[in-house]
Amino acid sequence: IPVEPFDYVVFGGTGDLAERKLLPALYHRQLAGQLTEPTRVIGASRTPMSDDEYRQFATNALKEHLKAGEFADDEVAKFCARIHYVSVDAKSPEGWDKLKALLDEGKDLVRAFYLAVSPAIFGDIAEKIRDFKLITKSTRIVVEKPIGRDLESAQALNDTIGKVFKEEQIFRIDHYLGKETVQNLMALRFANALYEPLWNSAHIDHVQITVGESVGLEGRVSYYDKAGALRDMVQNHILQLLCLVAMEAPNSMEAESVRDEKLKVLRSLKPITNGNIEKLTVRGQYKAGASAGGPVKGYTEELGGPSDTETFVAIKAEIANWRWAGVPFYLRTGKRLASRVSEIVVSFKPIPHSIFDDAAGRIEANQLVIRLQPDEGVKQWLMIKDPGPGGMRLRHVSLDMSFAQAFDVRNADAYERLLMDVIRSNQTLFMRRDEVEAAWNWVDPILKGWEETGQKTQGYTAGTWGPSQAIALIERDGRTWHEAD
Ligand code: BG6
Repeated sequence: IPVEPFDYVVFGGTGDLAERKLLPALYHRQLAGQLTEPTRVIGASRTPMSDDEYRQFATNALKEHLKAGEFADDEVAKFCARIHYVSVDAKSPEGWDKLKALLDEGKDLVRAFYLAVSPAIFGDIAEKIRDFKLITKSTRIVVEKPIGRDLESAQALNDTIGKVFKEEQIFRIDHYLGKETVQNLMALRFANALYEPLWNSAHIDHVQITVGESVGLEGRVSYYDKAGALRDMVQNHILQLLCLVAMEAPNSMEAESVRDEKLKVLRSLKPITNGNIEKLTVRGQYKAGASAGGPVKGYTEELGGPSDTETFVAIKAEIANWRWAGVPFYLRTGKRLASRVSEIVVSFKPIPHSIFDDAAGRIEANQLVIRLQPDEGVKQWLMIKDPGPGGMRLRHVSLDMSFAQAFDVRNADAYERLLMDVIRSNQTLFMRRDEVEAAWNWVDPILKGWEETGQKTQGYTAGTWGPSQAIALIERDGRTWHEAD
């Protein structure tokens, strides 16, 4: 469905995110016929560059990041014709008049400012946008994480942006919410009658959320070493996944309904305190090992100095409300793990009584596995009888729904959907201010607790599933991490 024509202004236009994600996503939307004339893409950053030089930058980005067959000369030429560039400095008025003149040519278009820059200059940019009168009645602003490094700095950032923009104009991106399977979680839960009656502590034993990565630092040394896995992945992506698994049914897909329900979950998370932090959390840091078929350096070698920043974290979380009391949510994420696998595993309770004799074999509890990446899909594990006349032998098998096999469509990148939702002014898949702050409110005591109790990182060999303490965290409870297959 085509959307209204727009001007997308990308601050940080020559940066990594624009190159890897934003430009390819907008190009794909053009291929899909969603860019109505006279839609424009305007790169903005401090680097002096002409329109043509930026068009070349965009062309190179597409060459590098599109899949085989997606780069079509005529489409790229059409895309380049939409592209403009202005050199602006967040801290000085230089260049802003030029941006204003350019935007004035599209006064009636939807206007989106994308801040793909360091949060340290969010405020300066927002003020310039205001001072140069660039805000029309259909203007929105998109901000990328990190939104703060703790509750206080998140509030300060939200205040800064909030001075210039109204909440309904602010789109806080968590790209995990744009992933196909993440949205499918809502379809699975709320478009089926099957799961919801069982979706509670009476029938669910526990939930696991794993976001495993095989990559290491990827050149983001200075950001990552100050952040660590808890801030980088848990505060945002993993807690958002947890919210979608745990929230009550919103009364519609309307943004405020969905966000109200997610907020309730965040506020129900049981605080982790200094008294139990060592039992409920594990910090890890990778050591030299092997990944993706070759040897890789350890974290501190990659960094070039000593550090106790965690590249892995495992947490046993609990949601203190009627639906979930007593159901552990085991969360884990890390760099340089055995593989890039992200999944949510909902483990149901065992059957109350078996009518089968020992020869039938062990009866495994049902599990619903929602695979976010790679190989998006859903598997429902069940017990069945082993086929054949050999008597009653039971087997654990899966009803397997691989999206790639079931649907012959390209799996669009999360950014494609989210960038267009900004234009449509649909905030359902974006984080509201209070959500971000509630998430920090739970994360802050963990960060402080680690500091105050002196809880150190545990080493793990690159290419494994993290430190042995993470395995102990779940095995102490008589459970095991689901092995991705
Ligand atoms: C980002 C984190 O938000 O998400 C990165 O900052 C991480 O450290 C990335 O690698 C993971 O995203 P995806 O879509 O590759 O799973």
